[in-house]
Amino acid sequence: MASRFSVRAVTKKLPLSYNFVSGLNISSVCNHVQSRAFHRSFKYPALANYQHLALFASEKCFSRSYTSTVAFDPLSLEYGPNKEATVKVALQPYSLVISKSNKNTSGSGETYEFPYSFLRDSCRCSSCVHSTNYQKLFSSARVPPKIKPVSVKLEHGIDNRVELVVEWKGLGLHEDKTSIEKIESRFGTIESNPSSASSAPSSSPSADANNHVSRFNVDWLVSNSPLPNKTETQAVRPYNTGPRTLWDGEMYSKVFEKVDYSEFMETKSGYERVLKTLGEYGLAFLKNIPNEKSYSEKLISKFGPIMHTFYGKSWDVISKKQSENIAYTDLYLGLHMDLCYFSTPPGIQMLSCLENTTLGGESIFVDSFKAANIMKKVFPKETEILTKVDVPFHYDHYPFTFMYNRHKTISFDKNNEVSKVFYAPMFQAPLKFSSSEECNSFLDAFSKFEDIIYNNKLFFETKLENGTAVLFHNTRVLHSRRSFDSSSGNRHFLGAYLAIDDFNNQLRLLYHSPNK
Ligand SMILES: [Fe+2]
Repeated sequence: MASRFSVRAVTKKLPLSYNFVSGLNISSVCNHVQSRAFHRSFKYPALANYQHLALFASEKCFSRSYTSTVAFDPLSLEYGPNKEATVKVALQPYSLVISKSNKNTSGSGETYEFPYSFLRDSCRCSSCVHSTNYQKLFSSARVPPKIKPVSVKLEHGIDNRVELVVEWKGLGLHEDKTSIEKIESRFGTIESNPSSASSAPSSSPSADANNHVSRFNVDWLVSNSPLPNKTETQAVRPYNTGPRTLWDGEMYSKVFEKVDYSEFMETKSGYERVLKTLGEYGLAFLKNIPNEKSYSEKLISKFGPIMHTFYGKSWDVISKKQSENIAYTDLYLGLHMDLCYFSTPPGIQMLSCLENTTLGGESIFVDSFKAANIMKKVFPKETEILTKVDVPFHYDHYPFTFMYNRHKTISFDKNNEVSKVFYAPMFQAPLKFSSSEECNSFLDAFSKFEDIIYNNKLFFETKLENGTAVLFHNTRVLHSRRSFDSSSGNRHFLGAYLAIDDFNNQLRLLYHSPNK
């Protein structure tokens, strides 16, 4: 069923949020919109018998006459085996809001807002996303920021899904400015192989005389919500990498366990237990690792390819004379993270104990994100300084190696959650400041942060015995080693790194449901 109607001179000042209704008669809506009273008190029950959609014909929809044809469909749909769940959609001037609720649970349900431009940019059709490699086939630069759909409707899809169907006028995109032909017409000829340019497959949705239709699984949309929900911080965290729990020593000791090596290597449940613990706490342990270097390398390789650095694929931690690194002595090694002198340090570090018969040498771990949160609460002004001053780190072994990078001590994300900490005093290069005042205020703030890090309530301490290994989030969990008596026995650890992207990849595979 379809209806023909006209939208005329609709003001831009629509109410911030429409009431959710089963359908809207667009002519009536427009007449009411022209009335200022609409903004305050418009209610829809009188329109409940209509199953019309509001529509926004084009960018200019609100300022000029427009005539179009739309299907009549409700903007509210029940679904589930017993129709226990409901999806509702409210249309706003530049976005729509999806609400999901369930009769069996109390409360009005979660709401998610989607700018129309985001919806056009996120179209999943085979012209917009390649059907086998899932790569996007057009640039976001082509999406008009104030685009509005011609129509919006909810439908039942396969597997009990609810689908949001959005129709755009024409292709709904600006012209493609990135093709070789277009660039040449604007900037003159570009030297390239003309045959390869002309034979390259089209990389953008084909223009069609018909309107473009985007069909979204509502669950997919919700899990890809572009705007932060007030109670949802995952939006700005590495996408779908699961929960994160900040801990102190007492708290971690309650979840502390050593997972058996063969269980980890050979069973899904064993592997996922370590993966979840490492993802959530940034710290996990294993035991009964065969005393051979290759087994330890296989252990970390379960998550992804080992990250090679100038230390090699893996590296031995054995105390020795004339050591080039303090880690290779029997001295006390203060809390730190490794390779701060990299622009992107390794995300995960493994230390596997091949032999440890010495006295001392216990390992200490501290959740630096927990420490940064305490710092923010207790010393907000000083924390601000630590988020602004660049601290240089280096590994200066000229003429063989000279690594150098600068990082802020603490960073927060858009939700004011700790996102990064860089702390490794032993690898610090000479500091640089813009003034003496900045130098002094930084040192004062840094000293306060160090007091918190070294509060032993934050310590989780354990001695790694033969055949045990620790895996930790290198840029979150600080590690330290007490001094040991090298004359009392032998101590040999094998270390290896993993890039954070490879580790987060495993977490996403665990927490993210298949591409819908
Ligand atoms: Fe280290």
